[in-house]
Amino acid sequence: MKWQGLINQYKEFLPVNENTPLVSLYEGNTPLIKSLNLSKELGIDLYFKFEGLNPTGSFKDRGMFMAIAKAIEEGSDTIMCASTGNTSASAAAYGARYGLRTIVLIPDGYIAMGKLAQALQYGAQVVAIQGNFDDALNLVKEITESHPITLVNSLNPYRIEGQKTGAFEIVDDLGDAPDYLAIPVGNAGNITAYWKGFKEYKEAEKSTRLPKMKGYQAKGASPIVEGHPFENPDTVATAIRIGNPASWDKALAARDESGGSIKAVTDEEILAAYKLLSNQEGIFAEPASAASLAGVIQSVKNGDIEKGARVVCILTGNGLKDPDTCLESAVKPQSIPANLESVLKLIEG
Ligand code: F0G
Repeated sequence: MKWQGLINQYKEFLPVNENTPLVSLYEGNTPLIKSLNLSKELGIDLYFKFEGLNPTGSFKDRGMFMAIAKAIEEGSDTIMCASTGNTSASAAAYGARYGLRTIVLIPDGYIAMGKLAQALQYGAQVVAIQGNFDDALNLVKEITESHPITLVNSLNPYRIEGQKTGAFEIVDDLGDAPDYLAIPVGNAGNITAYWKGFKEYKEAEKSTRLPKMKGYQAKGASPIVEGHPFENPDTVATAIRIGNPASWDKALAARDESGGSIKAVTDEEILAAYKLLSNQEGIFAEPASAASLAGVIQSVKNGDIEKGARVVCILTGNGLKDPDTCLESAVKPQSIPANLESVLKLIEG
């Protein structure tokens, strides 16, 4: 059957009733890509869930369709979020499609160019604040509590409901849950959602087991790992540049209930994994997404993930969103005269 979006595919697991509109940009159904090269090097059975292939290029669409459907059902006409970029792009797209006014608060200067372009192109009202994501989220919480505006950050429980379908798709593809689920952690909504999804699918007897949840934060923005909020979070992975995650407690619950861990990876490890994904697997994911692979490499090295284990890495966003980070480290092409001699000279080195 032709794919018709998550609300159609997983209706029985979602808060859908006869008044819920069938909101969809045909999100979900993203590929679980089996690693060809890194799995051999690492000695594990490795898969990549490439969420960068969602309609706005990140996993946020998986939660946004549900938040928007419920907002419309409840009669809301305005949505608002704080964002490091991807949530704003997703909210703006669904807001545009369903005629909602969309307002997004972003940390000025700390969002990848592609994400800013998306929010503007979809027609959202984009407000750049001179502060970080945590400041933006505090403002949005305050405003949406006192105005008839729907908050569509992952504090909105419908976002989590939608995002849990990522776990369903992994089990549907593999036939059961993997040994480990590796996932980048920022505001901690996604690790919360995946854990909920794995538990619900097991209860429904769609799987026989649960994975150990392996969350990875960027070292410069690792409040959960360090056990205290970061006032000035800092990392090359701007998507997870967050100092005080909203779903902190739920991330700890996912970690502890599953027997997993939440660890930090350095920017160097993130950028190395970012390159490996592209050079070794042909997958262009954004830096924050590469935190999951960076974490797996670290965990295999220190014996935290054993050889032979089946591991799924969530690659949360598309690399095309952040051309600047890529081009900063890339070797630029050489410009030469347009003749055979010059080209042959260059390629024959
Ligand atoms: N990866 C990417 C590409 C993200 O955009 C985010 C979060 C995460 C990982 C972390 O997910 O917050 O659920 O733990 N981006 C949010 C945003 C904060 O505004 O787009 P999380």
